[in-house]
Amino acid sequence: MPAPVHLLTGATSGLGLEAARHLLADPACRLIAGARRPDRAYALRGLAPADRLAILPLDLLSLESTMAFADLVAARLDGGRLASLAANAGLQFVGLPRLTRDGYDETFQANWLGHAVLIERMLPRLAPAAPVVLTASGTHDPTKREARMFGFRGGLFTGAERVARGDLDATASARQQGMDRYATSKLCAVLQVYALARRCGTDGPRFIAFDPGLMPGTGLARDRGAFEQWAWSNVMPLVARLVPGASTAARSGAAYAELLTGRAFARGTGLHVDYTLREIPSSRDSHRVDWQDELDLFARRTAQAVMN
Ligand SMILES: NC(=O)c1ccc[n+]([C@@H]2O[C@H](COP(=O)([O-])OP(=O)(O)OC[C@H]3O[C@@H](n4cnc5c(N)ncnc54)[C@H](OP(=O)(O)O)[C@@H]3O)[C@@H](O)[C@H]2O)c1
Repeated sequence: MPAPVHLLTGATSGLGLEAARHLLADPACRLIAGARRPDRAYALRGLAPADRLAILPLDLLSLESTMAFADLVAARLDGGRLASLAANAGLQFVGLPRLTRDGYDETFQANWLGHAVLIERMLPRLAPAAPVVLTASGTHDPTKREARMFGFRGGLFTGAERVARGDLDATASARQQGMDRYATSKLCAVLQVYALARRCGTDGPRFIAFDPGLMPGTGLARDRGAFEQWAWSNVMPLVARLVPGASTAARSGAAYAELLTGRAFARGTGLHVDYTLREIPSSRDSHRVDWQDELDLFARRTAQAVMN
């Protein structure tokens, strides 16, 4: 039997690096990872020899780069199929919206749209029942107390076109707008998991939204000020021990790998799962079928436009 090949974005640090570590602990496993700077992915590169680990250039802020990455992955597969796809990379930029060269809000494109296009392109390359896991977040849900404690107020889906421009609530402070865009990108991920599960049915790949819990100390605070970055890395890991719903990158990365290998949730699609590998409820908004369909159409149209 050929070795299973997994595809993972955001594998250079934090949660993705830990998930990669667990996947590659199995000597039979091969991994293709995307990284903005493959030459600087030292920690990832040290996990396995080059015949089991390919680190290919991927900048999700560029649709051109995303498509070039997808083409390289397809070439590597050489007619084979992916055992899983993990759409994990993400950023949290807390400020007013900034547009990419493609004309989309950066948070929207890096966290959701780039992955949506990648998934569309890879659908025919997925093995039957392959898990496709999108990294979600409790911040998408306005009822999550621990997310509210940190200033998140849930995703604000104002329509795909407006969300794509980062146009959510212009009356809020710049900081709040950044947090809203992050939470909304995660709401988009959950909406898309449900949309894809309906579109592909029970015989297709299996779509899972994974909430890794609060994991202080990862690189996610890199766009914050120096003090906040320091607190995120040095204080928050201690405080988090007292916060319900908090995890660590190591713990959540292990759970992620269980999902990707199919050892956890070997069946089922359209799932929302947390780092303890329990199925958990997602926000009320995430069940809006009209929003799921609108976003799914947006993803397909964008993918079609860049593939042509
Ligand atoms: N930390 C938490 O508390 C938390 C909670 C819930 C959900 N999450 C989610 O978990 C996922 C991983 O985050 P993390 O906490 O592990 O943060 P992290 O350490 O900053 O990891 C983020 C990863 O995304 C990659 N990335 C960022 N922008 C990219 C781009 N434009 N193109 C390609 N790759 C890009 C980074 O790669 P580079 O090496 O190129 O920078 C890095 O590998 C994210 O989706 C995040 O939203 C995190």
